[in-house]
Amino acid sequence: MNGDSVKNHTDVLIFHTGICAGASQIPLMADANLRFASPPSRERSGMRINMLNVVVCVSGGGTNLQAIIDGVARGTITNVRLARVISNNRNAYALERAAGAGIDAVCVSPRDYGSREQFHEALLRAVDEAGADLVVLAGFLVVLPGALIRKYENRIINIHPSLIPSFCGTGYYGLKVHEAALARGVKVTGATVHFVDEGTDTGPIIMQKAVAVEPGDTPETLQRRVMEQAEWVILPESLNLIANGKVAVQDGRTVITA
Ligand code: GRF
Repeated sequence: MNGDSVKNHTDVLIFHTGICAGASQIPLMADANLRFASPPSRERSGMRINMLNVVVCVSGGGTNLQAIIDGVARGTITNVRLARVISNNRNAYALERAAGAGIDAVCVSPRDYGSREQFHEALLRAVDEAGADLVVLAGFLVVLPGALIRKYENRIINIHPSLIPSFCGTGYYGLKVHEAALARGVKVTGATVHFVDEGTDTGPIIMQKAVAVEPGDTPETLQRRVMEQAEWVILPESLNLIANGKVAVQDGRTVITA
């Protein structure tokens, strides 16, 4: 399925995986305006199990990646196969976390390419080759090429360390987000998981979680609390919801079913 087919023919995109007995899939469509994205199925002992092939893109420490790895290992994230981790930074500790968990880990660094275009092509190739059904940006400090965003429309999610639409957009990344929240004096901040569109932090919001700002907070203490209380919770939860067919996009907003 590509972005054009979604734009031209559908109003709603629903991510579907599932376990189906026999040859046919769970009935998918009740309405001509609904579409479900079904990743390739794999036959196992008479059951048809659809696993979501997930590529995680990282740049740094990889604590969000670790939360996902742990969720899959514990079974709080189901129907997910971590197909590949891609880092733009060869020194990212996230690559070691991936390798330690037995996940294919590759570095696609702009330093290894003669132009931005070549780097973008290599990034797209690395995602395609992994057979990605979904791309998770978990602290990925690269502006994605438009071609990647269009090809994977509504199949890329990002974690942002504030309650969008506060403290987001161009220039708001890493500690800068928390510095801005403290400078404004907000009492509550948090994190947001959203689909990625061609704007900066403008795609449909999947999940948000609020976190209190405490007296005496520094950008570092606030960042840590937002990660512990929000990011490591809602990113795995969002992934699990998507992998289990619970997230639809309708008119630029998500609809989550229980
Ligand atoms: C997180 O704060 C995330 O919200 C931001 O970058 C940081 C990544 O941390 N986009 P880690 O690499 O997952 O530890």
